[in-house]
Amino acid sequence: METKRTLGRSGIEVSALGFGCWAIGGEWQSTDGQPLGWGKVDDEESIRAIRRALDLGVTFFDTADTYGAGHSERVLGRALGKRRGDVVVATKWGNVFDEESRTLTGADDSVQYVRRALTASLKRLDTDYVDLYQLHLSDADPERAAELRDVCEEFVREGIVRAYAWSTDDPSRAAVFAQGEHCAAVQHMANVLQDAPEMFALCAELELASINRSPLAMGLLTGKRRTGQALEAGDIRSRPPQWLQGFGDGSGADPEWVGRVDALKDILTSGGRTLGQGALAWLWARSPRTVPIPGFRSVAQAEQNAGAMAKGPLSAEQVAEVDRILGR
Ligand SMILES: NC(=O)c1ccc[n+]([C@@H]2O[C@H](COP(=O)([O-])OP(=O)(O)OC[C@H]3O[C@@H](n4cnc5c(N)ncnc54)[C@H](OP(=O)(O)O)[C@@H]3O)[C@@H](O)[C@H]2O)c1
Repeated sequence: METKRTLGRSGIEVSALGFGCWAIGGEWQSTDGQPLGWGKVDDEESIRAIRRALDLGVTFFDTADTYGAGHSERVLGRALGKRRGDVVVATKWGNVFDEESRTLTGADDSVQYVRRALTASLKRLDTDYVDLYQLHLSDADPERAAELRDVCEEFVREGIVRAYAWSTDDPSRAAVFAQGEHCAAVQHMANVLQDAPEMFALCAELELASINRSPLAMGLLTGKRRTGQALEAGDIRSRPPQWLQGFGDGSGADPEWVGRVDALKDILTSGGRTLGQGALAWLWARSPRTVPIPGFRSVAQAEQNAGAMAKGPLSAEQVAEVDRILGR
């Protein structure tokens, strides 16, 4: 497989696999105590994992200012160090948080806030530009978003942002951002259990990259998470908010979801792939524009996920067979 993909109209080239840096932000929570991170992490292991990914050809990293209330950006900046120029860094703005108490305190979609947020992200990432700047408020008002898109164009003119995107699952919202010359992508949920046909069609029509969040269905598609296996307190999956699917009441993986993963096992593990590698291979087969960004917490996960690139996409027949098995 060609192991590189281009971010839409921007011409920015990235590895076909990006690394998602939510989990490595460590613990943070909402004001009512809902965990928003993935539990405790070891920063030194996160840094080793990022550097291993670089050695294995990964050149794209997705984070957000709010992950770990600033911590993920700091860890990523530290890990990249002098290699910053060799990679494409995506971050996000829109959520407001307190770094000290690691608490999400609200959201701000104002045009005044976005410049403050970008300045703070640049500092934490220890860089003077962001390659892909993304609006993190998935349901923001489209008219306000059009104003924010225009501010992003200003950032591009100033040289502090190279391209931008909206992180949203709504194709009509993605289309609002796409009207901007330097909009390069949409970040949206997509994995073999949660297809996104309308968004893939929009990306093809408007020449956007499709950056796929939760490509491993938040860990369900690696086979590691089973029913009845409780999750660590502090892990968002232990007390899933309403939008988080597949982990039922928090007592472990939802049996119905696990059943679907089991039904796909033979296809996903074809060609010597691990289950998770097969899930990434499905995304590459689904569209030539996809760039999955699996999360990771260790060198071992980094190696396994990066190793998916060498094994390439599933075949068109396998994609059709997945649809048949899942009754789509
Ligand atoms: N609104 C947004 O913009 C938004 C929302 C969600 C995510 N994202 C982005 O998308 C990225 C990825 O999505 P995600 O974090 O939701 O979930 P994901 O990539 O579907 O799943 C990641 C989790 O799967 C497990 N895992 C990863 N590699 C593995 C391996 N090789 N073997 C076994 N387990 C493995 C790890 O958790 P365990 O080891 O703990 O099981 C890891 O944290 C995020 O990091 C973030 O950058 C963006």
